[in-house]
Amino acid sequence: MSNLLVIHVDQIATPVGKTMKHGLAMDDIQITTDGAIYVEDGIIVNVGKTDEVLTQLRIKGISDFDEVIDAKGQAVVPGFVDSHTHFLYAGYRVEEFYARVSGSSYMEIMNNGGGIQATVDSTREATEEELKALGMSRLNEMIEQGVTTVEGKSGYGLDTETELRQLRVLQELNFSQPLDIAITYLGAHAVPLEFQNDAAGYLKLMIEEILPKIKKEKLAEFVDVFCDEGVFDYKQSQELLVAAKNLGFKVKMHADEIANLNGAELAANIQATSADHLIKISSEEITQLSEKKQTVATLLPCTAFCLQENFAPARELIDSDCAVALASDYNPGSSFTCSIPLIIALATFKMQMTMGEVLTALTLNGAAAVNAAEKKGSIEVGKDADFVFLKYPDYRYLMYNTGINVVKKVVKSGKLVFE
Ligand code: NIG
Ligand code: FE
Repeated sequence: MSNLLVIHVDQIATPVGKTMKHGLAMDDIQITTDGAIYVEDGIIVNVGKTDEVLTQLRIKGISDFDEVIDAKGQAVVPGFVDSHTHFLYAGYRVEEFYARVSGSSYMEIMNNGGGIQATVDSTREATEEELKALGMSRLNEMIEQGVTTVEGKSGYGLDTETELRQLRVLQELNFSQPLDIAITYLGAHAVPLEFQNDAAGYLKLMIEEILPKIKKEKLAEFVDVFCDEGVFDYKQSQELLVAAKNLGFKVKMHADEIANLNGAELAANIQATSADHLIKISSEEITQLSEKKQTVATLLPCTAFCLQENFAPARELIDSDCAVALASDYNPGSSFTCSIPLIIALATFKMQMTMGEVLTALTLNGAAAVNAAEKKGSIEVGKDADFVFLKYPDYRYLMYNTGINVVKKVVKSGKLVFE
């Protein structure tokens, strides 16, 4: 058995709960001053005031600790869950990013052979080892910012071989470094050139060949689709996601990002685990998400910022009782950043979210968006000991120290993995 004791934390700040938070409850952050956390074998066994936790340990006769951390002057929050990323790819698209700053649109670039297809070309050429090294260095960037769980998608192969290679590398990475990775198959990221003008043929390949293979080899937990103008329409997305659900996958959607195709409505009806982007979501769809209560609304402010789009209507979603998560969308095209400080700054200053709501969105609701809220996303007894020490005594410094990484230490499954 291994254990860890953290004492004298100025402020333990955490949402509380085993499921996603709805509506105003998102602002409900439990604060413990002079707090302590006791961890055994990677699981939180006790949390509360330092004197109370110490008394209980004494009563149980526990006095030997593998590691003791005195966190005076620091706040502790749950490890962040970045629940939507495309971090595994080869090649970069700096020219395209620059063209966008000068006025070209994301879809114009994509239709001219750039965009996702450009990354598909370079990812198809990359070996498993190259991809693994790239993935590892990006995961290290994330951990330094307090991310302890990340979702990672395929979608830069589009052919069977490269998609499976991406998924296998994600699996290997999951076992070879500290972060937990929730894995998503996103073959429906674009229609590959081999199937130009034959989206139906590509759907058939995914449904009849690729999905069963992924299921058999247990390579992914989720299936995602880019439901948007010029990519996959409502009916095609529905066909794919129904087939995925029938095979036992959980599903996610890129919905209402560039155009509104009623993607969020489909996500609500099909009980998707999350509906992501939602820049163009309609009020009717917000009502549907809120009534069904099964789907997390995952907002990706860095993407809206880099595409110079409006931000998704976070306030309307939260005030309508939807569970909102925030994530980076880390990818080489629309959001070449995994910056947690940037997400926090945009969400608080541009999307009118409170710091409490932002914390819930980046932890408990992020965990719900990868179906892991039972084990992750809050500092509570029985949950995984994934938490982050800040350089300051109050969690609101996460927004106050604008754009700056205030993470001092990171504990993942009870082990110090960054300091
Ligand atoms: O979430 N919208 C689709 N996919 C990504 C962008 C991927 C890319 O441009 O490489 C997104 O924005
Ligand atoms: Fe995305």
